[in-house]
Amino acid sequence: MLTEELFLTLVEQASLAPSADNMQPWEFRRQNGSIEIYCAPLRMLPTDAMCMFSWISIGAAIQNIVLAATEYDLAAEVTYKTIENTTEPIAVITFSAGVTKSTLAGFIRMRNTNRNPFRTDSIDTGRMERLNRSVTTFEAAIHWTTDGNQFKQMAYMDAHSSYIRLAHKPLHDELFHILRFTPEEINEKRYGLTFESLEVPPIAVHFAKQLRYWSINQMISNAGIGRLVAKRLSTKLMKAGGICLITTPNRNRIAYMEAGRAIEQLWLTATAEGLSVQPYGVLPQYFTKKDIEPDFFPLRYKKAIAAHEEPFYSIFPNAKDEFPALVLRLGWVDKPSPRSDERLPIEEIIRKESNK
Ligand SMILES: Cc1cc2nc3c(=O)[nH]c(=O)nc-3n(C[C@H](O)[C@H](O)[C@H](O)COP(=O)(O)O)c2cc1C
Repeated sequence: MLTEELFLTLVEQASLAPSADNMQPWEFRRQNGSIEIYCAPLRMLPTDAMCMFSWISIGAAIQNIVLAATEYDLAAEVTYKTIENTTEPIAVITFSAGVTKSTLAGFIRMRNTNRNPFRTDSIDTGRMERLNRSVTTFEAAIHWTTDGNQFKQMAYMDAHSSYIRLAHKPLHDELFHILRFTPEEINEKRYGLTFESLEVPPIAVHFAKQLRYWSINQMISNAGIGRLVAKRLSTKLMKAGGICLITTPNRNRIAYMEAGRAIEQLWLTATAEGLSVQPYGVLPQYFTKKDIEPDFFPLRYKKAIAAHEEPFYSIFPNAKDEFPALVLRLGWVDKPSPRSDERLPIEEIIRKESNK
C-alpha cells in the first residue's frame, strides 16, 4: 500500500509540523510497507529537559502522517517503541485500507505559528468544546484560562523566566547556535529560527547579532536589557482569546510524543476554526528542567523558576498532578502572519542505512 511516491508525500506532510526552535528533529524510513520514525540527534536541542520538546515535535509530525494518510483512504496505526537506543525507530506507523477522510489534513499546509498580538475576544464555548474534543483520543489533557487577569500573570511569569535564556550561558550558547542571521545561513541549514519568522525588525537583528558574544551579552544582561526585551515579548500573552496548557500523565518519551500528537490535532483544529496559535515553551521546559536536572540552573534562576509554580497551578488547578508539556496562546487576528517555509529538503529527513 505504501508506495515510494506515497511515502514521500506523507514525509513531506510530516515535515510541515511545528518543532521547537524549528529544529525538525525527525527522520523517516520506509520499511515493509510501514514508516519508521527516528529522532535526529544532531537536530535535538542539547539543553531540552528529557528531550521533551523533541519528542513533542516528533509527535506532531507523526500526527500529520496519520491525518494525511486518510486522504489516500489509509488508516494509520502508531506503535511507540520503548527501546533505549534511539538509533532504533522510536515509533512505527502501519497502514490498513478503509478510513474516513479527515478534514484536518487540508489544514496541515496552512497551520503556522503566529507571533503577532491577537484580539482579546474570548474563545466561545462552542469552539472551546470542539477544541477540547480534538484532543480527547490522546493520552494528554488540556486546561484553559480565558481570564484577562490570568493572562497578565502568565505574561509576568513568562517574562520573568525567558530572560534566563540569554542570561545562563548553556542556554545562551544554544540559542545562538539555532538562530539564523543571514540568508546564506538560512539557505545552508534550512532548520533553526530565522528572524523573519520571529517577526523581529532589521534594526533589532543587528543588535541581537552582537549578543552572540558572551561578554557583550553579559554587559547587556547586567544593564537589565535582556529582562526588558523578555518583558516586551511576553506582553503578547495578554493579547489572546484563550491560553491553554497541555499536560502529560507521565514524564517519558512516549507521553511527550502523545502530547505532540494532541498538540498538532488541536492546532489544526484551531486553524480550521480560523484561530491563530503561538506556543510558549519556557515555563513547561524550565519547570521540568528544574525537577529533572536540579543542578542545571544556578540557585538564583532556580528560585525564580520555582516561585512561578504556585501561581501557575492556581491558573491551571486541575493540572497539579500532571506534567506540563506546552502552553499555547490562541486567538483571532485581523491580518494573518505568513507561513514560515524554512524546512529541510525531504531527502535530508529520510533515514539512510548509513545513518545507523
Ligand atoms: C515543543 C514546541 C515548543 C515551542 N516553543 C515556542 C515558543 O516558546 N515560542 C514561540 O514563539 N514558538 C514556539 N514554538 C513554535 C516553533 O518555533 C515553530 O513551530 C517553528 O519555528 C516552525 O514554524 P511554524 O510553526 O510556523 O511551522 C514551539 C513549537 C514546539 C513544537
